[in-house]
Formats: sequence, C-alpha cells, structure tokens
Amino acid sequence: MHRRLVISAVVTALCGGTLIGTTAPASAAAVDCRKVKCVALTFDDGPVADTTRLLTLLKDHGVKATFYLVGKNVQRYPATARNASRAGHQIGNHSWDHADLTRLTSAQIRSQLSRTDTAIKQATGIRPTTMRAPYGAHNTAVRQASDRPLVHWSVDTLDWKYRDPARIVRTVRDQTRPGDIVLLHDIHRTTVNAVPDIIKTLKAKGFHFVTVDQLFAPAKLPAEKVTYHNRAAYRP
Ligand code: NI
Repeated sequence: MHRRLVISAVVTALCGGTLIGTTAPASAAAVDCRKVKCVALTFDDGPVADTTRLLTLLKDHGVKATFYLVGKNVQRYPATARNASRAGHQIGNHSWDHADLTRLTSAQIRSQLSRTDTAIKQATGIRPTTMRAPYGAHNTAVRQASDRPLVHWSVDTLDWKYRDPARIVRTVRDQTRPGDIVLLHDIHRTTVNAVPDIIKTLKAKGFHFVTVDQLFAPAKLPAEKVTYHNRAAYRP
C-alpha cells in the first residue's frame, strides 16, 4: 500500500511536469492563495461508478478537488471514497440521501449528517470537517446541527440542467474569479467529460487548483457559517 502511494505520487509529479511545465506548483500544499490565483473545484452527490474516471483525470492533470459525498453512495462505493481521499482530495459531508434538510427535524438532520460521517470515516479514516447542504438549502436548525462550516459555491455551472460539456466549460471560463468555489456533479457523465477542458482553460488563465481548506488557509472557516467563496484570496 505504501509503495503504491509512492508510485502514484511520482506519476502525478511526472504527468504534472510534462503537461503544465513551469506553472505547476511543486505540491498543492505549497500554494498560498493569498499570493496566487486559486480556485476550488467541488464535485457533489457521488461517489458513483464514474467517479473513478474523474479521479484518473484529476490525477493526470495534477489537480486536487473537494468531493461532497452522499452517505448512502459512500456505503455503496467505499473504495472510491477511499481512493479520492488517498489521492489528496478533500471529502465533505453532503447528507445521507440528499434530503432537503430544511424540511427535517433537528434530530433527523443530525442523523443525516452523523450516518454520513460514519460512512466516510469508515471508508477513508477521516471525519469530514465541512458540509454542504443539499440544494444549498439551509436554516438555523441545519446550521446548528451541522456543527461545522457549511461550504456552498460562487460559480454555479448548472451542469445538472445543461448536459453539455462545452457549455459547462464556457460557464466556468467566463465566471471564475480568484477565490471562487465551482459547483460540479460527477454523477453526470457530461460533467466528467468537461473536466479536462475546464482544467486546461483555467490553467491557461493562471489558476491553481486547491481544496476548500487550502483555499482559505491559513484561516479556518467559521463553524455553522455558510461560505460561498474566499474574496480575501489573491486578486490580480
Ligand atoms: Ni447535491
């Protein structure tokens, strides 16, 4: 297992160097989003079977992202969740079955989140430190029950509505500013198909791809508050 991790790191470094040359950060952890243009790609509602293809694409391009996973899908594809986490992507809680949490009691909301925490912890060894409310729907009860930061988005690709890779790429290219959080769904093949061109387009504009935690580092997100972007990040 250790050897596999080392090999994977070397392959990522080689691919990154070959594909993106001098613009490649030595490692995602070294990126300071106060000094360079950063964007956080987020993928919701998985894992699904096609998430494995997405993980390969991200690895080939040396890109780290954040996954907001649905608990029942983690239960079905625990190895995929584990692979995402081990590849250096951040994992967040997106409820057990994508319920509109604002329609549930506080006890039901806590159950949605704790069951998902348990599934993710079992699969990856890590308890998710952020959550994203399904449909972006939240109220006081949801925020209090979350007991952690809610991370939403500032660029909405509407990829669930327009199953057109070219349109998704255009939306991301035209709307993304430094510090933005981009909403994507790897449950749609058209979205995964768009990922290589999303990455190429944003790299050409000088963006570095970071996880949500890295986007805000060294600051920490406030618990029970909803965050949509980091406008304190570097602005050219
Ligand atoms: Ni969702």
